[in-house]
Amino acid sequence: MPEFAPQILRFDSLPSTNLEAAKRAVQGAPEGLCIVASEQTAGRGRLQRHWISPKNAGLYFSIILRPELDQRIWPLVTLMASIAVHDTLLDAYAVETDIKWPNDILVNESKLCGILAETVDTPLGRAIVVGIGINLTSKSFPPELEGIAASLEAAANQAVDPEVVLKALVNALGSYYQKLQQPAGTHEILRTWCAFSSYAQGKRIRVTDSNESFIGITRGLECDGALRVETDRAEIKIVRAGDVTNVRPWERRA
Ligand code: BTN
Repeated sequence: MPEFAPQILRFDSLPSTNLEAAKRAVQGAPEGLCIVASEQTAGRGRLQRHWISPKNAGLYFSIILRPELDQRIWPLVTLMASIAVHDTLLDAYAVETDIKWPNDILVNESKLCGILAETVDTPLGRAIVVGIGINLTSKSFPPELEGIAASLEAAANQAVDPEVVLKALVNALGSYYQKLQQPAGTHEILRTWCAFSSYAQGKRIRVTDSNESFIGITRGLECDGALRVETDRAEIKIVRAGDVTNVRPWERRA
């Protein structure tokens, strides 16, 4: 496995760090290229959502990876990224987070960080761009994010330095990415994700995708990172896409 050598490119403003990283991947940029922007004017989220990215209020970061893994298990790369974020926030700021499947980072059930992984076909083969957005401060939260989103500053109860977060995150990503590509790596990533996520086992959730919406209880992960959910009819459904939300006791019925 080649040495993982991250290289960071910083921008004042970009439409989206994921778009910039994808463009550079197509131009042949190597694995490990990181794109960071102080603001995004068209930040992208999962499920075609917009990621609000005000100037200097968040870490907006994307990295190009070219995994030497069977593409059927590439979803593990996004789980790996969520583990890296979890470790970074714990080590750098003693903030305990939860991971909501597949890769939302929560504090007290509010979203602190989102991850968007997108594959891109390049002359060097298929690559994956992993984009990570961490809310650093709530000062610039628009009204629609009040009460839904969390910030690292509030969770850590101290000012945060984006460079500290960035450095720790790049290190954690490098180390978990190398782990993932070792022989027992996929098992290790699945096990670690389950240890960090309250959504892995026994959580009552609603799953919503373009076709259906149902309630069930989580029953661990498949080998490719898909979520196993047991419905009220004792049927196991394998969830590979869609939105997962916690079902509170007062909304128990499907
Ligand atoms: C989500 O919907 O939860 C995923 C959000 C991912 C946002 C990050 S910010 C950096 C990178 N660039 C983007 O346009 N999106 C990702």
